Amino acid sequence: MPDSLTIAEGRKLDIQKIRKDFPILETTVYGHPLVYLDNAATTQKPKAVLKAMDDYYVTINSNVHRGVHHLSQVATDAYEAGRKKIAAYINSRHTHEVIFTRGTTESINLVAACFGKKFLAAGDYILVSAMEHHSNIVPWQMIAEEKAAKVRVIPIDEKGELILDNLEKLLEGVKIVAFNYVSNALGTINPAKTIIDAAHRQGIPVLLDAAQAVQHLTVDVQDLDVDFLAFSSHKLYGPTGLGVLYGKEEWLNKLPPYQGGGEMIKTVSFEKTTYNDLPYKFEAGTPDMAGAIGLGAAIDYVQQLGIEQIHAAEHELMVYALDTLAGIDGLRLIGATDARHRAGVVSFLVGNIHPFDLGELLDKQGIAVRTGHHCAQPIMDRYCIPGTVRASMAVYTTPEEIDRLAAGIRKAAKLLG
Ligand code: ALA
Repeated sequence: MPDSLTIAEGRKLDIQKIRKDFPILETTVYGHPLVYLDNAATTQKPKAVLKAMDDYYVTINSNVHRGVHHLSQVATDAYEAGRKKIAAYINSRHTHEVIFTRGTTESINLVAACFGKKFLAAGDYILVSAMEHHSNIVPWQMIAEEKAAKVRVIPIDEKGELILDNLEKLLEGVKIVAFNYVSNALGTINPAKTIIDAAHRQGIPVLLDAAQAVQHLTVDVQDLDVDFLAFSSHKLYGPTGLGVLYGKEEWLNKLPPYQGGGEMIKTVSFEKTTYNDLPYKFEAGTPDMAGAIGLGAAIDYVQQLGIEQIHAAEHELMVYALDTLAGIDGLRLIGATDARHRAGVVSFLVGNIHPFDLGELLDKQGIAVRTGHHCAQPIMDRYCIPGTVRASMAVYTTPEEIDRLAAGIRKAAKLLG
């Protein structure tokens, strides 16, 4: 069982009340009430997030860190307050270990480029897993090509879990390990701490892609002792276009800057430029102020519900979803059948029906799912399938919506079968 999983005791969430915080859930699609099951792609935003961003533009819009004038100072305080909330949410030791980026993808690209530039040499290995999103494969391939390094892969088994029996061997010659906490395509929760501990025993740093974890599980960077952690605001009920890179202070100080420009410098002359302190060294250009404030509001929202309570409620829903889907003729679940090993995502195929056809017929019934390879083609190759239908849940997902999904699949299967 994954070492990260703690089923919360205590207070249950009032899902119907929570749904009222998300106006978009009232939408109808083709005459049907929307069943939004594409939360792994992006979650909907509660009113509190929309209001925080609107308030920013209406009352304090101004560039941060740049003006002595009142608005600029108020905007800077609000922007930095967003950073503090993120630092507290992931329990980072220092607020300056939180870097704003454009998303998980940019966070990983930043580490791959900057770490690679300084620490990778010909013949070195980068260890990733077979269940990575393309954003945790391609940046490593790109830097590997530049440095004549190599990418090695932790394989997965039929249940969609990492095969870690030979981990010590896989770590030989490795300079950095990068893997996801939760798979976006399968929902598998990986034993992050076990892998991080094993890498650290050999002095190897680890980057954890937490894009599909921060909205479902407690993520504590100090407890995990992870060196780098990446996630996106828009999958955590926050605005799009904003991401977070956490890095241990000692690592961020060792890396060269990513992009050059304003804010990331201390002094500039044509003879020599010196770089700013953390976190600004990695934040060239005007940042996404409204985004950081919106993400801060999203974190307030999640914390007010309680991430442990969210996890407990979603776990119960996952048990229900797996049970319900198991009753559908011809449905093949891809990945773990045990709800304790999964978060947020169910991926499946029905008979010989192409995932795209099934997804289209579900859409006509107002049910939004993602179909295809989910930016994780190596997983599809592992199972020798073209793709899957993926239903992904959030805090506002109800058992009735899972029933609608099941009824929708049955209806579509009858038409297509
Ligand atoms: N990474 C997002 C997903 O899995 C877009 O759908």
